[in-house]
Amino acid sequence: MEPLLIAANWKMYMTTREVREFFRQWGNDPPPPGREVVFFPPFPLLPLVRDLMPKGSALGAQNSHEAHEGAFTGEVSCRLLRDVGCSYVLVGHSERRHLFGESEERLAGKFRAALARGLRPILCVGETLAQRQEGHTLDVVLGQLAAGLGEEPPVKGFDLAYEPVWAIGTGQVARSEDAESVHEALCAWLRGRGAGTDARILYGGSVKPGNAAELLAQPSVHGLLVGGASLDPLSFRAILTAGA
Ligand code: 13P
Repeated sequence: MEPLLIAANWKMYMTTREVREFFRQWGNDPPPPGREVVFFPPFPLLPLVRDLMPKGSALGAQNSHEAHEGAFTGEVSCRLLRDVGCSYVLVGHSERRHLFGESEERLAGKFRAALARGLRPILCVGETLAQRQEGHTLDVVLGQLAAGLGEEPPVKGFDLAYEPVWAIGTGQVARSEDAESVHEALCAWLRGRGAGTDARILYGGSVKPGNAAELLAQPSVHGLLVGGASLDPLSFRAILTAGA
């Protein structure tokens, strides 16, 4: 059984001073047994987080470009991400899909490139409120999954995150049974294709210390992808240890 993965997505927050203060308060306590922690800071903060985070923590990037290197102003390659110590990368976060218009095709390329270059991608999927209300949740998330993994879904080396768009940054968390039913559908899809045999499925969207334990108690919830509540070391620590 893979450890539960508790991930901090700092989005476009934090400065060098704030990172130093975060890790001063975070301390050196390891995660509880059976849990792994990963930090996703903005690009310029990656080396600082690598140097300050406790041993055994993992580092990840919020985005990457699919090319090895090249004339792509403003982009960052998986090769460089590896070089600065990343082992994870997010692919297809809803903010990338919806605010920056990243297409399914683009995301599939990024997913493949990350795997090929030795990073562990976390492919993010999730429906909008309108799609949920129209009863299309599973069609949408399984469609995003199939498109992201491509023609031959890899047997291992990646994780997934289910982040309902309507739950991100809204304070409106999915009911644990609703999250579980989507996670179970994602697991079944993978099982049916012999894909992602070591994949964990994280839930994201308004995770807080008060709802983390119930979400993690669901059999198909294998971790959490935490935005706002991961910026505060006390609340992120409470999430990391919730129900352990
Ligand atoms: P919040 O936890 O702030 O809702 O953000 C969720 C998210 O987008 C994590 O990737």
